[in-house]
Amino acid sequence: MSKLIIVSNRLPLNITIDNDNLSVSPSSGGLATGMSSVHNQGGSLWIGWSGIEDEKLDLNLKEKIKTELENENCASVSLNKNEVDDFYYGLSNKALWPLFHYFTEFSSFDNTQWESYKKVNQKFADIVIANLSDGDRVWVHDYQLMLLPAMIRKMNPNVTIGFFLHIPFPSFEIFRIFPWREELLNGVLGSDLIGFHTYDYERHFMSSVKRLLRLNVNFNQIEQNDRCITVDTFPMGIDYDKFWNAALVHDELKVNQITDLQKQLNLHIDSSPSNKLILSIDRLDYTKGIVNRIKAFEVFLETYPQYKEKVRLVMLAVPSRSDVPQYKKLKRQTDEIVGRVNGKFSTVNWTPIWYFYRSMSFDNLIDLYTSSDIAMITPVRDGMNLVAKEYVSTRTSKKGVLILSEMAGASQEMNEAILVNPSDLNALADSIKKAVEMPDEEQIKRNNTLQKRLKRYNVHKWANDFMSSLIKTENQIDSVKSTIIGAKENKKIISSFKNANNRLLFFDYDGTLVDFNTNPELAIPGKEILKNLEIISKMPNTHLVINSGRDEAFLDKHFKNHNISLIAEHGYKYKLRNETQWSKNGVIKNEWMNHILPLLEGFIDRTPGSFIEKKEASIAWHFRKSPPELAEKRVVELNTLLSSLISDGLQILNGNKVIEVKNSRINKGFAAVKIVEEKHDFIFAIGDDTTDEYLFEELPETAFTIKVGSKNTVAKYNISNIKKVHEMIQNFI
Ligand code: UDP
Ligand code: G6P
Repeated sequence: MSKLIIVSNRLPLNITIDNDNLSVSPSSGGLATGMSSVHNQGGSLWIGWSGIEDEKLDLNLKEKIKTELENENCASVSLNKNEVDDFYYGLSNKALWPLFHYFTEFSSFDNTQWESYKKVNQKFADIVIANLSDGDRVWVHDYQLMLLPAMIRKMNPNVTIGFFLHIPFPSFEIFRIFPWREELLNGVLGSDLIGFHTYDYERHFMSSVKRLLRLNVNFNQIEQNDRCITVDTFPMGIDYDKFWNAALVHDELKVNQITDLQKQLNLHIDSSPSNKLILSIDRLDYTKGIVNRIKAFEVFLETYPQYKEKVRLVMLAVPSRSDVPQYKKLKRQTDEIVGRVNGKFSTVNWTPIWYFYRSMSFDNLIDLYTSSDIAMITPVRDGMNLVAKEYVSTRTSKKGVLILSEMAGASQEMNEAILVNPSDLNALADSIKKAVEMPDEEQIKRNNTLQKRLKRYNVHKWANDFMSSLIKTENQIDSVKSTIIGAKENKKIISSFKNANNRLLFFDYDGTLVDFNTNPELAIPGKEILKNLEIISKMPNTHLVINSGRDEAFLDKHFKNHNISLIAEHGYKYKLRNETQWSKNGVIKNEWMNHILPLLEGFIDRTPGSFIEKKEASIAWHFRKSPPELAEKRVVELNTLLSSLISDGLQILNGNKVIEVKNSRINKGFAAVKIVEEKHDFIFAIGDDTTDEYLFEELPETAFTIKVGSKNTVAKYNISNIKKVHEMIQNFI
């Protein structure tokens, strides 16, 4: 039976060694806790790092870990001390983590760490491939493994791969800082489906793909060579029933079942019914806004002294990445500020902050969630934040208030929380007052709405939605594959060519024979392709035609071979082989250009990088060098304007990064059919652009018409890319 291979750096189990014995506990962090619920349903293998450096393990311990992991359907990737330092603490947590959370001042970039990141991603790829069987799908998680999808794809081109980023994807202005940004994007693009928590992260990602890789993007699909990659938003949910049911059980606990932590919490709760507990839970991470939260609590006690001895902050900070200097510093800062605030406000009977620096068992987490009247979750930046959702799902009484940062992904789905700017201390302090004073009815109303949403869009729905979208991409690939030229079709075309008595071949130029270049003058044919075209053009009974949008001067300059016929300006002009003069296809009135030209010039001024190409029978506005998002807006604007201006005799062509206005009587097909004769028993036409569709339409049913790329076409076939076109030309010889 096929399985799902989940791959993440952190496994759901955290293994530590205690006097040569293994101690196993669940891992903290949203990825591990969320995906555990999915993994526990069965049918998956989870590949990740055990959390221990290789050097600390002897054979015996390695064997024990292997067995322990196998019992949980997990397999480990071993990392040595250098790899942990450079890949995990280094590139992942000193470069990517701070950068993606907008802490640019904390990001450092080091070549050795980048090399290690690549090496470790390859290690993961090798283990995935070793465990991969036919029909398996792979789901890669998070920023530590962004190169992995392309590495797996390279080793096994047909496997279905999903990628989900659990942290924010930053805006282009931030992402562009990363020194190896193109490699990182290309790594992720090895996937079939890429998922983000929010639409903003998706939007930022698309923007970077467009600007840095200059790939075509249609709505939520990216075209890369012959592949189509889907990008979408899937806000991660929690295992709602697990938390709700645990809270119900907790409500019914007998005295002898109560934990020590709960007894401590009860001391506060029982001292007065009007006393309130505020809960704060995070990994100790500078993205979580912990110091500001304590400062805000201080401002609250100073501004509203009536709440001294009544409102207490219970703070759980889970140790995390403590080898990274910024985390060490944060630990010191947190200790200091907790000490200062406690020193300032403590009385004989009361300490304002209870501070725990450790991770807690699930039961203790439930103690904290169920005992707190308010949860204050105010990260400076957070991909999602599951703690906020978990707190709300334990509100069996429907009472309780969530104060949530606007900067957490979760805030987009949790409008009924008190939403605050985590950098505004006064607003934070006031939000505490609002929460403390919120009437029960309002709390119930807000929680009802929040809970309904969390229950419906739980972690299982999230995973199912992601997997259904991933499976959909397989069908999409199939439909493209059916027209893409494979070995069989290739053989058929070549043998028809070889067996024919009279051949006619049309080649488009840009995007078919040569790659696009931001400077069109530099997109010139290489020696190899010119040589091969020449050989074909000299074959007996073979007529070769270059059918291009370029003007006659350009074609004359680069195709000096008199055995090749040239068609320029999308069919307006032609020079058949052995002719020396260019001819026109009819007489065309061009007065319209005087009206359209000033309009296009206005667009050049407002769209940096764009330029006009004026030909005899058409004007083209090129925007291949312009910022893609601005160009997208201008394209809509220009199309609307042009459609309202042009008369029946004109046509707007939306080509590849170009809009061209031309006489509608002229097109590539119109010019080409004049050359087609009955004697031709092999007709071949290949092109990548909208303008080539006219040619494909005009040619007889028996012709081999081929579209370059994976876009929809009236042609019979698709061919993946220019490299494949060159290979086919080579095969004709
Ligand atoms: N958590 C845990 N042990 C603890 C404290 C928290 O397992 O002692 C869990 C918590 O229940 C939540 C996750 O860690 O599921 C934290 O996820 P979140 O998305 O809030 O933040 P992250 O740590 O992923 O940045
Ligand atoms: C966040 C990241 C996860 C990571 C977790 C804990 O949730 O998105 O990828 O596993 O923090 O961090 P750690 O460095 O301990 O794995």
